[in-house]
Amino acid sequence: MKMLVAFYSRSGTTKRVAQEIVKALNADIDEVIDKKSRRGILGFLIAGYDATRGKTTEIEFEKDPSDYDLVIIGTPVWNGRVTPAIRTYLLQNREKIKSAVFFSTCAGRFGKCLEQMEELWGKKPLLKKVLVRKRLDKGIKDIVEELKALC
Ligand SMILES: Cc1cc2nc3c(=O)[nH]c(=O)nc-3n(C[C@H](O)[C@H](O)[C@H](O)COP(=O)(O)O)c2cc1C
Repeated sequence: MKMLVAFYSRSGTTKRVAQEIVKALNADIDEVIDKKSRRGILGFLIAGYDATRGKTTEIEFEKDPSDYDLVIIGTPVWNGRVTPAIRTYLLQNREKIKSAVFFSTCAGRFGKCLEQMEELWGKKPLLKKVLVRKRLDKGIKDIVEELKALC
């Protein structure tokens, strides 16, 4: 099965999960870049505001999801919601994603992020998983095992 891990990460946590999945499952990786700056205190505040308002953003990514049997999509949770970058990615690639797994990373308040991702794609993913930052190693181990069982 050909697999792609597509993710957005502002501060590296979601990226680390994506990299570990790629290593364990021999998948391809694609980092979704948000062209809007999310740096600094202002970037942080606007990030939360944009996520809450359900805003889209300008993104860059390289791989075509229609080339893959399964696309594993990861995002941080912002104000209990999906990030604008992954919102945009799902909207732009709705028709191209054949089968999906969604995961989020957060500090503990996961909100409705994964449900929003499901709504945006319009289909049910094979698996939805929340990884909490302070138990990240365990979260990675669990998601890798569950993915291996799926493949
Ligand atoms: C703007 C913003 C809003 C956040 N909102 C939440 C939240 O609602 N719940 C939560 O548990 N963590 C929240 N966090 C923490 C991140 O979800 C968490 O640190 C995540 O793992 C960061 O992923 P990253 O390093 O890949 O960017 C927020 C972080 C930012 C920057």
